[in-house]
Amino acid sequence: MIEALPDGGTIRKLWIGESALLRDHLLRLDGDSRARRFGGGVSDARVIQYADTALTPGAIVYGFLIDGTLRGVAEMRRAGLPLATLVTPVAEVALSIETPWQSHGVGSALLERTLLAARNRGIKTLHMQCLADNRRMQQLAAKFNADLTFETGSVIGEVDPRRPNPLSLLREWVEDSQSLTRAMLDVQTRMLRAG
Ligand SMILES: CC(C)(COP(=O)(O)OP(=O)(O)OC[C@H]1O[C@@H](n2cnc3c(N)ncnc32)[C@H](O)[C@@H]1OP(=O)(O)O)[C@@H](O)C(=O)NCCC(=O)NCCS
Repeated sequence: MIEALPDGGTIRKLWIGESALLRDHLLRLDGDSRARRFGGGVSDARVIQYADTALTPGAIVYGFLIDGTLRGVAEMRRAGLPLATLVTPVAEVALSIETPWQSHGVGSALLERTLLAARNRGIKTLHMQCLADNRRMQQLAAKFNADLTFETGSVIGEVDPRRPNPLSLLREWVEDSQSLTRAMLDVQTRMLRAG
């Protein structure tokens, strides 16, 4: 897919050993974005604790990186009890973009990748929980035909991904191969910087 991302940034999956990237990104969010991401105010200690355990094998996390620094993420993980999700596969999605890169199409590009991953895993419903006044997140969900359900104080966006097919599986596989190469380049960049 060819898309214009700000500042020559790239999008790729994050791997389990990259929780420090996620932690630093979440800590850099300004107060408002952090509250919107977590549905309320959370301390640095809570953010660190969260990031340390967020990259589990079951989580699919797409990152937007510039020069090896993570500036935005879309995190998707299965929701509900394991047996229930076999019948109705549901996942939760949360997005966070650092302020200078908001409103530049990064959230849209990350959500598009997430929808492809959800589709390829047979996930029927994606929940996006956001505060009721979060117009941008609601606009973003609406772009992808999300059904928005209003509950007290929050909005649940439900997106129904299409069924997987060989092309959608191939597309994610090709993107994964590129992701691995980019992850290795990012490690090299960080090592060069540290040296
Ligand atoms: C909400 C968030 C993920 C959206 O990502 P983004 O990269 O800023 O969004 P995009 O640039 O892709 O824009 C998506 C849509 O939102 C709308 N939008 C963009 N900027 C907007 C603004 N300043 N005000 C209102 N709507 C806006 C547009 O409809 C846009 O689609 P379009 O550009 O095709 O018209 C991001 O702003 C963010 O991380 N906010 C803080 C954390 C958060 O709110 N997370 C969501 C809860 S989990």
